[in-house]
Amino acid sequence: MKKQEVIEKHKKYLFPIIANYYEEPLVVDHAKGSYVYDIEGKEYLDFFGGIVTISVGHCNEKVTGAIQGQVDKLQHVSTLYPNEPHVRLAEKLAHITPGRLQKSFFTNSGTEANETAVLLAQLHTKCQDVIALRHSYSGRSHLAMSLTAHASWRLMPTPTPGIHHIPNAYCYRCPFGLTYPSCDLKCAKDMEEAIQTQTSGRIAAFLAEPIQGIGGFITPPKEYFQEIVSIVRKYGGLFICDEVQTGWGRTGGKMFGIEHWGVEPDIMTFAKGMANGVPIGATIAPAEIADSMKGMTISTFGGNPVTSTAALATIQVIEEENLVENARLMGQRLREGLEGLQQKYPVIGDVRGMGLMQALELVGENKRPDSEAVKRFFERTKANGLLIGKGGLWGNVIRITPPLNITREQVDEAIKKLDRSFMQMGL
Ligand SMILES: Cc1ncc(COP(=O)(O)O)c(C=O)c1O
Repeated sequence: MKKQEVIEKHKKYLFPIIANYYEEPLVVDHAKGSYVYDIEGKEYLDFFGGIVTISVGHCNEKVTGAIQGQVDKLQHVSTLYPNEPHVRLAEKLAHITPGRLQKSFFTNSGTEANETAVLLAQLHTKCQDVIALRHSYSGRSHLAMSLTAHASWRLMPTPTPGIHHIPNAYCYRCPFGLTYPSCDLKCAKDMEEAIQTQTSGRIAAFLAEPIQGIGGFITPPKEYFQEIVSIVRKYGGLFICDEVQTGWGRTGGKMFGIEHWGVEPDIMTFAKGMANGVPIGATIAPAEIADSMKGMTISTFGGNPVTSTAALATIQVIEEENLVENARLMGQRLREGLEGLQQKYPVIGDVRGMGLMQALELVGENKRPDSEAVKRFFERTKANGLLIGKGGLWGNVIRITPPLNITREQVDEAIKKLDRSFMQMGL
């Protein structure tokens, strides 16, 4: 097919809400390592990785080789029959996740992983209320949209009852108008009054991302999670940690984002980068919490042998090639480059994130969110052969998440392309 034909069929046969980036959509044909190629053969350095999902490079041979071997051996049986890849993956998660997390439930997406986590917390605590953060994103089911705190991603007319949102730790735009550290973590302490005023006084859970992903890589102060989770536990709630974007070494130096903050989650959820692009979702909890889910439930594809094999191979590459450390080192290099650009271009109001999860918030005067600048910047970076992501409540944040095995030369190449793009915009 030619480029235009693909674009026309996309419009004609897919829901219009399936939006594409760029004025003229980029029709991708193939990809390898850190590079993506469009249908006309143009090369792009991929610094978004299919929305924070390509952990170990596109079409990584160790992962695709493992998948091919499993496809020829056993592709699907459902969870009605135990199989080796399914239990091996569950065992692996029990070993590498923090604390007492032990038993897993596999699904097909981050949305389902969060659905499973909230249901589990409600069954375990026998409470209904769940507290989430403003600017969070949890997925696209009715419940997950209700947990999400971005008007544009909340399509349902009536949200699920029992979900409450409190201000997040957005230091660049503090919801209380304060400054860290003299703020004394007012945003975390606000949890107590929220529970006392908006719930019956006991809650099922607090669900949060260690760094808010779609929110624009909003990174809390280091003591934030300890403070807020201690309040949650005081009122009987479980802490559900959504590692869909921050998991698998993305934040550099630690396998999971929450490990930077020194808090052990009661339930953790995963998806995206866990299987390098093969659809997967996972929810893990300590045995006594997992055992609270009784009755009948099934995910036909959950724990599928091919998917589980892809996840095991991806985790193996991350471990064997020391990619958690590479994410730390390359993250530092990327961050230095981005801070250099901030010195040159006043449109960059904030640089934030950790490891290979870095963001630029573009602003006008008085920190006015500048989503128009992001749109123009996208066209420039596309022309310069660089893929990046977008985020933030106002669409004014650039998200940068290359594969974890990115090289220093590729980081330098990306910084040059970003620099050239800002320069060409005359900002
Ligand atoms: C933090 C977070 N949680 C959950 C989800 C939902 O995952 P999925 O799109 O796989 O359903 C996303 C997706 O972007 C996410 O970023």
